[in-house]
Amino acid sequence: MSETKKVVFSGIQPTGNIHLGNYLGAVKNWVAHQEEKVNYFCIVDLHSLTVPQDPENLRFQTRSMAAMLLACGLDPEKSTVFIQSHVKAHAEGCWMLNCITPLGWLHRMTQYKDKAAKQESVLTGLLDYPVLMAGDIIFYDADEVPVGEDQKQHVELARDIAQRFNSLYEEEFFVIPKPVIPEFGARVMGLDDPTAKMSKSSADKRGHAIRLLDDPKEIMRSFKRAVTDSDNEIAFSNDPEKAGVNNLLGIYKAVTGKSQEDVLADFANARGYGDLKVGVAEVVIEMLAPIQERYHNLMADTAELDRLMAIGAAQAQAVSQPKVDRMKEMMGLVMPG
Ligand code: TYM
Repeated sequence: MSETKKVVFSGIQPTGNIHLGNYLGAVKNWVAHQEEKVNYFCIVDLHSLTVPQDPENLRFQTRSMAAMLLACGLDPEKSTVFIQSHVKAHAEGCWMLNCITPLGWLHRMTQYKDKAAKQESVLTGLLDYPVLMAGDIIFYDADEVPVGEDQKQHVELARDIAQRFNSLYEEEFFVIPKPVIPEFGARVMGLDDPTAKMSKSSADKRGHAIRLLDDPKEIMRSFKRAVTDSDNEIAFSNDPEKAGVNNLLGIYKAVTGKSQEDVLADFANARGYGDLKVGVAEVVIEMLAPIQERYHNLMADTAELDRLMAIGAAQAQAVSQPKVDRMKEMMGLVMPG
């Protein structure tokens, strides 16, 4: 009955340390809905090249991310898990999309503006990044793109690009995808600064992020150091002053899956923020222990990991290449005889 199942596509960059924000905002939800959908999950190594990389490190991080995604529960029997650069349709199709995407659309992207402001010399790939991402999604006819809040604008751009291609060449050629953003966990904030999102690029800064490979002591230490306020009131709140406590409660809620009332009930007898921090750290440590164990087992057999990624790439290629070939034909390229 797979014809009626929704198609899901999402991706994650292999570079930087995967952290609790990536897990709660995205990966946890990929794992949760594998049974009901047709899934493609991609380790987007081409996207990582949009800022300078050390080649050996990128290679290691790419395998490490593959192991981590499987350790988190992605099942190659249920989902196509693959490395973006293994499937040539992504880079090839991106070129075709570049040639129908107005430059102004890319200059408006807030992530580009933020990242460009931090670089001395901005690479063309950084500006083009969302076009590559649009291709990732639409070459698979994805209906849904489960992401954290920060990727919403990019998915909206993917919709615009798909619509533009459809109106230029063939109505309904591309499915118009929609972002799927979780209610809790969509924007996990930095523990050291709850007004800024937890980010891979700052994940090595002491006390900023919980990295999925941190040991229990480090996790406890980072939560204990988390910035809160001087009120001592444990409540969900949109008040910027209370962002730290709200973030801790949001993490607890996303990890346990409990309702807001149940979360607050768990802390009804807390003697202050100290108890809150320890309570949140404990559920995170418990959640990560089996993931870490599976990760280390998978990394001990990289040949098996490579084999699984090759299977994923072949499945992905079989879907995306015919789509890109059709685009080339529609745009007037002569197909090889
Ligand atoms: P990336 O690698 O930065 O992040 C992977 C996923 O984690 C989410 N995320 C967060 N969620 C909650 N709180 C946070 N603090 C937080 N930080 C990150 C991101 O929203 C994302 O879902 N451009 C994408 C990768 C990509 C992609 C795609 C995604 C490439 N092609 C196609 C979807 C579909 C990125 O750099 O994600």
